[in-house]
Amino acid sequence: MNAGGERAMDAVRVALGARSYEVRIGSGLVTRAGAEIAPLLARPKVAIVTEERVAALHLETLKAGLAAAGIEAQALVLPAGEATKCWGELQRTVEWLLAAEVERKDMVLAFGGGVIGDLVGFAAAILRRGIRFVQIPTTLLAQVDSSVGGKTGINSPHGKNLIGAFHQPALVLADIDMLDTLTPRDFLAGYGEVVKYGGLGSLAFFEWLEANGPALAAGGSAANKTLRQEAVRRSVQMKAGIVARDETEQGDRALLNLGHTCPARADEPGGALALPPSPGSDGDETRSGRCAGRASRCRRAAGADAAGQEGRCRPDPLHPRARHRRRVCRRRGRSRCGARRAGGRPRRAVVHAGSGPEDGDRKGDGGRARARAAAEILIPLDPAKR
Ligand SMILES: NC(=O)c1ccc[n+]([C@@H]2O[C@H](COP(=O)([O-])OP(=O)(O)OC[C@H]3O[C@@H](n4cnc5c(N)ncnc54)[C@H](O)[C@@H]3O)[C@@H](O)[C@H]2O)c1
Repeated sequence: MNAGGERAMDAVRVALGARSYEVRIGSGLVTRAGAEIAPLLARPKVAIVTEERVAALHLETLKAGLAAAGIEAQALVLPAGEATKCWGELQRTVEWLLAAEVERKDMVLAFGGGVIGDLVGFAAAILRRGIRFVQIPTTLLAQVDSSVGGKTGINSPHGKNLIGAFHQPALVLADIDMLDTLTPRDFLAGYGEVVKYGGLGSLAFFEWLEANGPALAAGGSAANKTLRQEAVRRSVQMKAGIVARDETEQGDRALLNLGHTCPARADEPGGALALPPSPGSDGDETRSGRCAGRASRCRRAAGADAAGQEGRCRPDPLHPRARHRRRVCRRRGRSRCGARRAGGRPRRAVVHAGSGPEDGDRKGDGGRARARAAAEILIPLDPAKR
């Protein structure tokens, strides 16, 4: 803890030989970004690429933090949202970086959620055959997942994330304070990914989330921020381990796509990307069921059943068959139905989280489905409704 009662910064190393880097996690990292980044710079000048919502809330803080270390910064502000991950905005970004005279040894800062991280990382990968970049993720999803591991890219009308490259950042600054301005929906979308690490990698972490989920989601107090930092640290640690074992997703890392590869349902005209219909619709049920099947195939493909003693593939509680199984189990007084028992009553739903569509899918980010999955673990089950 520091003098202000805040937890000291954590640092997780992503061990990739010459491409190794640190993920720094803590409060106030944007304010002191200049000091964190300065040692990596060839000259005191950076280019920031961000998006409208993040710029309105936090760009001045970042610029002030850089200026405090004598670093000159210029910024490009793109539209917010998934549709920004497209050829047009990639071209605009690359041309802007060239016009800004960004050289081979310069640094680009990707300041935003997963959309900006993916797009700017890809721009950095192809500009002058590859320049260095720093990820400053501002959503929970980006902090625990997309900013770590070097997967960068954009969408195509043929599918999501179909154009891209593996390009590792030089540094990741995950500032917990950024999460304070997220909408509850965007927070929960990221929390779904956190739950996924618990479900896949560590029963102890999963149980820690069950105990601390509501406080984590509430945020606000220093104590709750400390919980957020711990959740991000443990998630990043797990992701870093997986990335170090399988940088280009040939084996273990595919497991992280659990629930990501759900089929498309609604394409927006013109190939733009849309969110799924509201939870509870028939379409959602179908998607959820398919996700459950794909999740277990994904685990098998990644050899998880053989490898993961702690990791367990939990049934999707939204799957119609899981519901039926729960009803049968309740009638028979058993407890192994995707809902665990405390004092003879189901305590909390056990979910497979992170059910947004991912690579190759022809639609949106699945935030709603993630939020729904995450909410399942935050909210105790009402047995009468299950
Ligand atoms: N590269 C990878 O390994 C990887 C992994 C998972 C997901 N992804 C990609 O990440 C993207 C989704 O990421 P996301 O959920 O961060 O989406 P996002 O970047 O669109 O951010 C979600 C919303 O939060 C807003 N926002 C961002 N930071 C904010 C802040 N601090 N305060 C208030 N609002 C803020 C944005 O304006 C946006 O409306 C998808 O494109 C997905 O394909 C990539």
